[in-house]
Amino acid sequence: MNYIHFDHVIWYTEYGSPDAYLFWMNPEGVIRERYGFRMELTAGKGEGIESWREVTLIYNAALRQMETKMQILNEEFQHVHQYNPIEHIKARIKTPESIVKKLKRYGQESTIDNMVKYVKDIAGIRIICSFTSDIYRIAEMIAEQRDIKVIEVKDYITYPKASGYKSYHMIVTVPVYLSDRTVDTRVEVQIRTVAMDFWASLEHKMHYKFEGDAPEHIRNELIECAKMVSDLDARMLSLNDEILALTQAEEKEL
Ligand code: GTP
Ligand code: MG
Repeated sequence: MNYIHFDHVIWYTEYGSPDAYLFWMNPEGVIRERYGFRMELTAGKGEGIESWREVTLIYNAALRQMETKMQILNEEFQHVHQYNPIEHIKARIKTPESIVKKLKRYGQESTIDNMVKYVKDIAGIRIICSFTSDIYRIAEMIAEQRDIKVIEVKDYITYPKASGYKSYHMIVTVPVYLSDRTVDTRVEVQIRTVAMDFWASLEHKMHYKFEGDAPEHIRNELIECAKMVSDLDARMLSLNDEILALTQAEEKEL
């Protein structure tokens, strides 16, 4: 039997799923996915699996913590203000394929050390809210948490991308307490409205389909839609403010 020698054998666990997958990463960064084929493990480097398992465990833990923190904030907000700023939350761990693609783009070798060092969005959480004002409120609440460190902020709401993309991005670290040490782990937080999320999903689909080379009329149409999204968000916010003001006035009269 011919053994192919790969740089790393990777054990990948989908966030929130008990299933584990095996991946082989060869020196060119190409990954092959296999199931239940543990025999070939001996062809890889044993320590690769161990450190991958540890790294995934840490990123999973960091993501779970962020998710819980957000749920607590949302519940507390509901309790105090009778209102949920968060519509829903999506959390994901970046797939090994995407990690390798990114490292390649950065001109870095596909190693576990490099991914931890250079890839800032291995753990990612997306917070979807109703109104633009909620976005800044949530961002502030995150930044104020004592154990969270804000590493980077990109405000694509005040400064949208040329594509029309709007969202508030933060790279934060959250401490993960292990038996013998604490690891400050990076998590990418994207905060956007339902409407912005709807737009971003479609734009992402287009980007994926045309690999960044979309027909001009589609790109222009998406830019038009982005303007409508901004307009919709602004009008919904002002409607909501008006409804709130009326409700408060009525409560005072009672
Ligand atoms: P990436 O290397 O793509 O992660 O970009 P970056 O490191 O410069 O960070 P940035 O904050 O610009 O983007 C991070 C993430 O935001 C991306 O991975 C996407 O999920 C999302 N994003 C950024 N720009 C766009 C865009 O134009 N359209 C869509 N749909 N999503 C975007
Ligand atoms: Mg990214």
